[in-house]
Amino acid sequence: MSDLDDPVTDPVTIPNIEYWTRAMEKQVGARIDIVMGNPLLLSVYQKFGAGVFRRSSVFHGLERILRDNAVRGKCAFEIGTWNGLTAVILSQFFDEVITVDIAHNAAKHAILQHLGITNVRCVDISENAEKAMALKGIKIDFAYLDGNHAEDTESDFDLVRRCGRVLFHECWPFQSPVWELVRSLPYHQVVYSGAGLALWDKFRPGPEPLEPRNG
Ligand SMILES: C[S@@+](CC[C@H](N)C(=O)[O-])C[C@H]1O[C@@H](n2cnc3c(N)ncnc32)[C@H](O)[C@@H]1O
Repeated sequence: MSDLDDPVTDPVTIPNIEYWTRAMEKQVGARIDIVMGNPLLLSVYQKFGAGVFRRSSVFHGLERILRDNAVRGKCAFEIGTWNGLTAVILSQFFDEVITVDIAHNAAKHAILQHLGITNVRCVDISENAEKAMALKGIKIDFAYLDGNHAEDTESDFDLVRRCGRVLFHECWPFQSPVWELVRSLPYHQVVYSGAGLALWDKFRPGPEPLEPRNG
């Protein structure tokens, strides 16, 4: 008999029961580690509570992929700010972060101010054309695409690809615009990590050519 056949744990048999799985337990543990492991995120949690973390990809391994791949530089451009938590992480790796969003959440300003972060510039936009305006005359060396994955992946990538290093969020088969685009890039230039993150780095060296066989 499987767990789901058991009338005590079957959510269909007892519709309102809250049940717990090992996978959920693991995910909660990983999220606690992420917040406890970064003093800035911990401070945000202590001041603002768990609500501001909703919908944030800080839980999807952002800090880790940046660290593991020695991603850093002068200027990062982020599409999709929400409450500014990923911008907080990016601000630790870049001299300057420019982040744009069509949602104009007040919480992002409160969070950045609380942390004393001054190298993040939030740009409130009302339509996609304004993304290009936010980038006008600015040289970026990294972009994080975390906006409208279903509709804007291609145009967002076209806007930033010249920088050569782009991190994609929601790179999984059921988000086909992201999945198809990333799969079309030279495979050796892409690193997959965390929960649906994919880092494209145009400067990543390809595999060594095979030695010719003697005889
Ligand atoms: C799930 S949130 C993630 C925000 C942040 N990167 C994080 O992980 O904490 C996705 C954000 O993309 C924004 N967004 C959606 N469409 C957008 C667009 N066309 N241009 C800019 N941002 C957009 C949403 O308003 C939302 O704030």
